[in-house]
Amino acid sequence: HTQFWSVDKLDGEETLSPAITEAGLCISEGETVAFPTETVYGLGADATNDNAVDKVFEAKGRPGDNPLIVHIGSVEQWGDLASVIPEMAQTLADSFWPGPLTLIVPKKQTVSEKVTAGLSSVAVRMPDHAVARALINAAGVPVAAPSANRSGRPSPTKAEHVLYDLDGRIAGIIDGGDAGFGLESTVVDCTGEKAVILRPGGITREQIEAVLGTLNVLESGKTSDSDAPKAPGMKYRHYAPSSPLLLVDNEMEEVIAKERLAGKKIGVLAVDENKTKWEPLVDLFIPLGSVDNLSDIAAHLYHHLRLADESKVDVILCETFSKSGVGSAIMNRLEKAASGS
Ligand code: TXA
Ligand code: MG
Repeated sequence: HTQFWSVDKLDGEETLSPAITEAGLCISEGETVAFPTETVYGLGADATNDNAVDKVFEAKGRPGDNPLIVHIGSVEQWGDLASVIPEMAQTLADSFWPGPLTLIVPKKQTVSEKVTAGLSSVAVRMPDHAVARALINAAGVPVAAPSANRSGRPSPTKAEHVLYDLDGRIAGIIDGGDAGFGLESTVVDCTGEKAVILRPGGITREQIEAVLGTLNVLESGKTSDSDAPKAPGMKYRHYAPSSPLLLVDNEMEEVIAKERLAGKKIGVLAVDENKTKWEPLVDLFIPLGSVDNLSDIAAHLYHHLRLADESKVDVILCETFSKSGVGSAIMNRLEKAASGS
């Protein structure tokens, strides 16, 4: 049985909420609790308790070689996790914390190998969400939290997504309404000479370059096999709908015709502006939002992928986006969902 708490996002006041106190107690007692953040919902456990961390991997069905992000409620907690804080990491934290940015830094010996999957580094993030930080503070420990989905499903941006994937498998869920940004945090490796963006997300490459300087930022991009383990999670097929997803650049009409000829039931994900063009030609049309508002498209993308997945069409066709700014994170998630098609 999974406990369900509802909390309004009233700035600051939720620290006093009995639901947060109860949920925090749950975490400090070694249980797992899902909670909202400004990116997606996370599944939290006491990062200092191996048994609790095991429960996270088990509930998600997550491979044990994929390390977790440790969430902190205040910057001071960082020192308990990092053996050193590289200058670029400090600069990035000063600029973007609390916020959708995860920093990989050398770990302290005391940080569990379960959390870091045996790596010598640890991923740390201070979320910009009052409920998330109140929960971490109520728990009184750093909180290890991957996205609160079953492994291979789109990350949850609503409490109902978490329920759908994990009801009965976790101790509790705090419903704090829709997550904000809608895609996961940017992950930046700060253990080398230059900052390496391992996963594009809520903080854009352009924003990172603006504080570190363009020459000090690398994108992991097409990771060769040799450096693949740098971001272990990126090698798994994520966010995958059960029907095949195809990304279509310019030839939507031709692709629709071809799939139609093959007798397929077709779903299309496209910007609102193209609704009148494609809707009459297909079985299901899901408007992603306006082409002029990429943040809005990001915020609802996982919900739309879940809708497409539940619709039982034979093939899902999705428009592509430019990879600048927020578009980089959107395209990264779509390319993973499509696994190259
Ligand atoms: O926005 C987010 O980051 C959300 C919310 C809940 O904070 N969390 C999230 O966690 O997306 P997860 O577990 O779904 O993704 C964490 C990513 C994975 O790709 C993992 O491999 C990578 O971060 N990661 C974690 N620790 C790492 C480390 N020490 N070195 C390299 N990559 C690491
Ligand atoms: Mg995830």
